[in-house]
Amino acid sequence: MRGNFGEHFKLSIFGESHGPGIGIVIDGIPAGTPIDERKIARYMERRAPGRDPTATARKEADRVEILSGVLDGLACGTPVCCFIRNTNTHSGDYKELEKRMRPGHADYAGYIKYDGFNDPRGGGHFSGRLTAPLVFAGSIARSILKAKGIWIGSHILEVGGVRDTPFNAAEVSQEQLEQLEFTAFPLIDPSVEAVMRARVDTARSELDSVGGCIECAAVGVPVGIGSPFFGSVESVFSSLAFSVPAVKAVEFGDGTRFSDLQGSQANDPLAYRNRQITCLTNHNGGITGGITNGMPLITRVTIKPTPSISRPQSTIDLDAETDTTLEIKGRHDPCIVPRAAVVIESVMAITLLELIMDDRTTHLN
Ligand SMILES: Cc1cc2nc3c(=O)[nH]c(=O)nc-3n(C[C@H](O)[C@H](O)[C@H](O)COP(=O)(O)O)c2cc1C
Repeated sequence: MRGNFGEHFKLSIFGESHGPGIGIVIDGIPAGTPIDERKIARYMERRAPGRDPTATARKEADRVEILSGVLDGLACGTPVCCFIRNTNTHSGDYKELEKRMRPGHADYAGYIKYDGFNDPRGGGHFSGRLTAPLVFAGSIARSILKAKGIWIGSHILEVGGVRDTPFNAAEVSQEQLEQLEFTAFPLIDPSVEAVMRARVDTARSELDSVGGCIECAAVGVPVGIGSPFFGSVESVFSSLAFSVPAVKAVEFGDGTRFSDLQGSQANDPLAYRNRQITCLTNHNGGITGGITNGMPLITRVTIKPTPSISRPQSTIDLDAETDTTLEIKGRHDPCIVPRAAVVIESVMAITLLELIMDDRTTHLN
């Protein structure tokens, strides 16, 4: 199993959903970096369960305990270890799932891979809970990026077919991202909130769940981050984004819509404006040749409907070696998307910081 990411801003994630806790060790935080625990708590709060009607009823404080690497609010330059206790587990809900595998979840694949030794309680290491440590790391990364003038934000582009207004890709501003930053249900057009929430309520009352899409942007990104081929911004971002449970598609710029366009519609013309070089449009989402081109970075991440639903579903019973019907009890998110927005922002922050730290061939580091 691989529990680590990065060569410069190095992450190692650990824990299970119903064990004593979850956490992360981060290596590579420059000595003297301010670690603002109050600010970190605000990002953690956006992801924490039990806060919003669209989320699971499992209420967790997600309070971060920093065990090493920080003194008087400043990074020491040594590994930073963060621990988050699990305080509200109902492991009994998972008893019958030990041998009756949830369709769409990792139960069957994980059971076979680990020979039945995996921890199935609450999804174990496969749980969306493991994204809390990622938000901790993302909070530190985005504070380092802010000091370099780079801002990150996202909104809920779609939930179960109900759509928000997309970002204007060429004109996303720091102010717009700041407005979205600490919003529990981030939207560009707040008038769609009631319809989106109603869509989630309908799914829940039908003992079902819904998926959706998060659109994430970064502004103030200088030209030149990333490399051609293996270290491209797209490949590093995607590798981390697809590590997040339930992420099933990642797009940049016009993404899958490129298939309907002609070159003349897809290219971003270059021009001088106020003696600065810019693109007049941003179909490529701020990345060309794997490298940032100075335009806002735009990505869309599709999240599948929560697999654990209470409707009867067909599955197998490994003990009885028969087909069976499963009705899942326990507490689950009827829609993962609102809680995942800050996770995807964290993926963006970690990607950009990792690539900036990697770059010894340009002026960026
Ligand atoms: C923030 C977050 C919360 C999640 N909550 C749940 C949940 O309550 N119930 C569930 O079955 N899956 C939940 N998931 C998704 C599962 O962890 C995921 O679907 C499962 O591990 C299978 O992985 P895959 O969907 O990437 O194939 C959540 C994911 C995230 C990111």
